[in-house]
Formats: sequence, structure tokens, C-alpha cells
Amino acid sequence: MNNFLEVAIEIAQEAGKILREEMDRPPTISHKAEFDLVTQADRRSEALIVSRLQKYFPDHSVAAEEGTGKDTGKDATSEYRWHVDPLDGTTNFAHAYPCFCVSIALARKKELLLGVIYNPIYNELFAAARGQGATFNGKRIHCSKIDALKNSLLCTGFPNHNRLANPNFHLYWDFTLRSHGVRRDGSAALDLAYVAMGRFDSFWEFGLNPWDVAAGVVIVEEAGGKITDMHGQPYGLGGPSILASNALIHDEMVRVAAEVSGHTISQK
Ligand code: IPD
Ligand code: CA
Ligand code: CA
Repeated sequence: MNNFLEVAIEIAQEAGKILREEMDRPPTISHKAEFDLVTQADRRSEALIVSRLQKYFPDHSVAAEEGTGKDTGKDATSEYRWHVDPLDGTTNFAHAYPCFCVSIALARKKELLLGVIYNPIYNELFAAARGQGATFNGKRIHCSKIDALKNSLLCTGFPNHNRLANPNFHLYWDFTLRSHGVRRDGSAALDLAYVAMGRFDSFWEFGLNPWDVAAGVVIVEEAGGKITDMHGQPYGLGGPSILASNALIHDEMVRVAAEVSGHTISQK
């Protein structure tokens, strides 16, 4: 396992160098959908990560956001699967807003084993292996000790697709009034890493994909946090909603979400 983690860290840092280099060039932006962007940086970072993973672990399958590594025929046979977001926070990147990262996770038969999240702008490396704790730049981290929503700082996100169907605006409004505030940083992976290190007390979002959250889930859990869906039920990778917290305000978050849903929203 430690070998897997070391390799994932090395690759995430190498991919991070590409993102930094690309920050110094004008972005080449194309659209996957009206508000869903992809840049040269996403593609270069992903090509590097996937080629390295395939070189080191030729028997593993790789699920990467931009589709590199598909069709290798490994999906049906491999027990190991890498979940790769080569650039989480593409919209930020495209606007030179320095909040984005590389996110890499490994699962074995659907159980998440490890996660690495690297922010190349601030040189912030988050890593965790199942059962071994979570670290930030090599030092152990733990979620915050805030135990009431009214004292918490929260974070959420809004996907680039089906924007009008997203039930989150109601929750955003309500949680803003009940907490110290709700940030919207634009990188789900970093948002989760920040829950793990105690900068945020909770993060939630609807409609995220496995590559957005796989690494963050392991890192939060290994930092003592809790992950469920918005109903407080077990979270399945790629499920319709995710709620991550320091565990202490989790039940209160679920209760408030249910209250708000009762008035205004239905599950996606
Ligand atoms: C996006 C970011 C954003 C979240 C979106 C994701 P991308 O990922 O994580 O914070 O709100 O739902 O799609 O497209 O930048 O990799
Ligand atoms: Ca993403
Ligand atoms: Ca991405």
C-alpha cells in the first residue's frame, strides 16, 4: 500500500508542475457543455498521470475524467482502479483564480484504499492511506473540533451541468444564515481536503463524479471525519449527493438539510 501511495504522490506532484507551467500561458479553453470547460492543462496533466499509472501498474484500470486510459480492456478484469481528476477546479484555472488541484485515488474492489490531493500553487499536499491516518505536507491532520453549526465555516459547490435542476441554492441560503458562512471555492477535491485539515467544518454538493471526490473521501475519513449522502445514509462513490464533515456537526447538518428539503427541494 505504501508503495502505491508513494507513486501516487510522485505522480500528483509531477502533474502539478504541468499545471503551474500552464498557468503562465494563456489558457486554451474548449467547452464540453455550455458551462463545462476543458483546457490544455487538463489534457496534459491527465496524459502524464495515466501514462505513469499504466507504466507502473499495467494490470490496473484507470478512470480519468477526460477519458484517457479508457478502452484498455482492464475494467472487467482488474481488481484495482485509479480515479483521476487531472485538474479539479478547471473554471478557476481558466480564469487564473489560483484554487485548483490534482486528485488521485486508488480503489480495490470498490473499497477506496488511498487518496492524494495536490495544490501546486500553494504547494499543499494531502495524502491518506486506509488505516494509516491523513497528512498535510507530511504532518498528521485531523478534522476540526467545532461541535455546533452556528460556530462553523462551511463550503459547498455547484456543478457545471443541469444548473437549474440543482437543489443546492435553497440549502446554500439556509446554511449561510445558520453558520459563520458558506464558501464556494470551486474545487470539490480541495474543499474535502480542507475539511480534513479543519479549515472547513463541513462540505456538501450534489451531482459530483467519482474522480471529484474519491481521494477526498479517504482523506476526510482518515482525518476522523464523516462522509454520507445528504440524508445521512452511506455514500456510494458517484452517488447523487455527498456530505462531508468533522463528524461533530454531521447530524445537525443532516437535520437542517431534511428540514429545508421538506419545504423546498427533492432529491436529485
Ligand atoms: C468541478 C469542481 C467544482 C464542483 C463541480 C466540479 P472540475 O470539477 O470540483 O468545485 O462544484 O461540480 O465539476 O470540472 O473543475 O474538474
Ligand atoms: Ca472535478
Ligand atoms: Ca477536472
